[in-house]
Amino acid sequence: MPKILVTGGCGFIGSNFIRLVLETEPEISIINFDALTYAGNLANLKEYVNHPRYQFIQGDITDSQIVAQTLAATQQSEIVDTIFNFAAESHVDRSILDSRPFVNTNVLGTQTLLDAARKFGIRRFVQVSTDEVYGSLGPTGLFSETTPLSPNSPYSASKASADLLVQSYVHTFGLDAVITRCSNNYGPYQFPEKLIPLFIHNLMRDRQVPVYGDGMQIRDWIHVLDHCRGILAAWEKGHKGEVYNFGGRCEKANIEITRLLLKLLGKPESLIQYVQDRPGHDRRYAIDCSKAERVLGWVPEMNFDQGLQQTIDWYRSNQAWVEAITSGEYRHYYQKQYGQRLGSDSK
Ligand code: NAD
Ligand code: DAU
Repeated sequence: MPKILVTGGCGFIGSNFIRLVLETEPEISIINFDALTYAGNLANLKEYVNHPRYQFIQGDITDSQIVAQTLAATQQSEIVDTIFNFAAESHVDRSILDSRPFVNTNVLGTQTLLDAARKFGIRRFVQVSTDEVYGSLGPTGLFSETTPLSPNSPYSASKASADLLVQSYVHTFGLDAVITRCSNNYGPYQFPEKLIPLFIHNLMRDRQVPVYGDGMQIRDWIHVLDHCRGILAAWEKGHKGEVYNFGGRCEKANIEITRLLLKLLGKPESLIQYVQDRPGHDRRYAIDCSKAERVLGWVPEMNFDQGLQQTIDWYRSNQAWVEAITSGEYRHYYQKQYGQRLGSDSK
């Protein structure tokens, strides 16, 4: 039975990935290694706490000792086959407020895991990266795996640095690693700081939604489970040292998403508030995922309108989950990020 180490498994994509693996891959057992930052939530996987193929370890990927202890302890019972590195600081706006945690976790954390992978003879390393490493597109064209890296935010710069480190370990040490680069995910368990869950959260409470700049920035939306299936496919069928892009072939302007959410939630246009733009805001992302389709036999399956409706339904049915994470630190962040932009509606 292969054992895998999933870092960042208590976050949005990592927890969806673990759920997918436990439900569809009966031969795989999982160690979820997560520091439980503000974005990590044990409640995301609460139904699996006593699952025989699941184990949680709280730890920081920058801490080489605890990473080594985890892999050494596991080696005595069953060797870890693969490390899937989802752990990251993932929110662009937070990287603009303070980039240090991004460099720490995304760069040093990845380097720590790469060294551990070498030391413990891990068979394969899967680095979960992002399309943001390619920078911003003009009105036409798509990001392919050969598009030069040109990150624009501290977040994307830290992710690009991590990708380069992974590639250097393949080249220099012969480590077997693959890198996945995906576009914007949406779906259940996403922390309500990102566009879609934040706007669902605000609209459900009749609060204003802060649209940055002119709202015409474009993102390529993909359902989180399509992304997770892609990561599994890259693990199973991807070639050593290769990069695989994943996207939803679903380009939408932010204002279009905003209007769709208003419609699906039955809310008035007056709740839209255009606010000061994000500094350095990337204008357009769009992914050419033909390599993943061709080599991995993967295609994005979820229709966006259907996936968005399901996501709204999930947030409606999981109010306790939302309430538990939107107190304390969340309020402090929201006030810092949106206080001046939204005025009295930011409370
Ligand atoms: P998230 O912010 O929801 O979750 C990140 C998780 O990592 C949390 O559980 C957190 O506790 C954990 N973590 C953070 N720092 C850690 C550390 N030092 N040690 C151990 N654990 C730590 O992020 P997400 O949206 O689930 O993204 C997961 C990965 O996918 C990231 O690497 C991100 O760059 C990438 N990605 C995200 C998207 C997206 O749209 N969200 C798209 C493409 C790629
Ligand atoms: O492309 C993949 C990336 O997608 C991931 O690597 C990141 O981890 C993930 O956070 C996401 O980055 P974005 O910056 O694109 O996502 P975010 O949800 O923050 O913003 C999406 C778009 O919506 C972007 O153009 C900014 C805009 N926006 C966002 C927020 C939070 C607003 O207009 N208002 C907001 O309040």
